[in-house]
Amino acid sequence: MLEKLKNECAECRACPLWETRKNLVFGTGNEKADIMFIGEAPGQQEDETGVPFVGAAGQLFDRYLFAVDLPRESVYIANILKCRPPRNRDPLPAEEDACIEHLYKQIEIINPKIIVCLGRISAKRLISESFMITKQHGEWFEKNGRPITAVYHPSALLRDPAKKADMLEDMKAIKAKLDTI
Ligand code: URA
Repeated sequence: MLEKLKNECAECRACPLWETRKNLVFGTGNEKADIMFIGEAPGQQEDETGVPFVGAAGQLFDRYLFAVDLPRESVYIANILKCRPPRNRDPLPAEEDACIEHLYKQIEIINPKIIVCLGRISAKRLISESFMITKQHGEWFEKNGRPITAVYHPSALLRDPAKKADMLEDMKAIKAKLDTI
């Protein structure tokens, strides 16, 4: 079922980003994952490889996954947008609107027990428009009967290493919650 959705995304022309992308970045990981991480949009390396979170931010994120004993193969990772915005600019609201149904279908198929937003843009889209990442990272919400939280985007940790301690605490709490569900 995910393969069918991936093919639909590859054919999608609902916004113009397909014209400038090199590869669709659909999502990767365990199709039966209990936990799904959702970032913002592919960057350059992701666009080149077709795989989410493989650049510098992704490599840092892998270290947190490893630290809390959640190997990449056990989780599923996707983004709000499946095509790279030129020069890594923020997604436009119209692009998010055009792409979000694909993500909703992806969530429905994977049916994770927990969703974790990676960063502000994902949290604003999936938790609440008023979400404030510096204040609300690590807080739990419920959407469609499913626990959802947000952590700092790994790029924010690269820019501001002082946030790394909070990230580790949040990731530990996420793993602990997952273990109780
Ligand atoms: N940043 C994101 O939000 N997603 C990626 O896949 C890579 C970087």
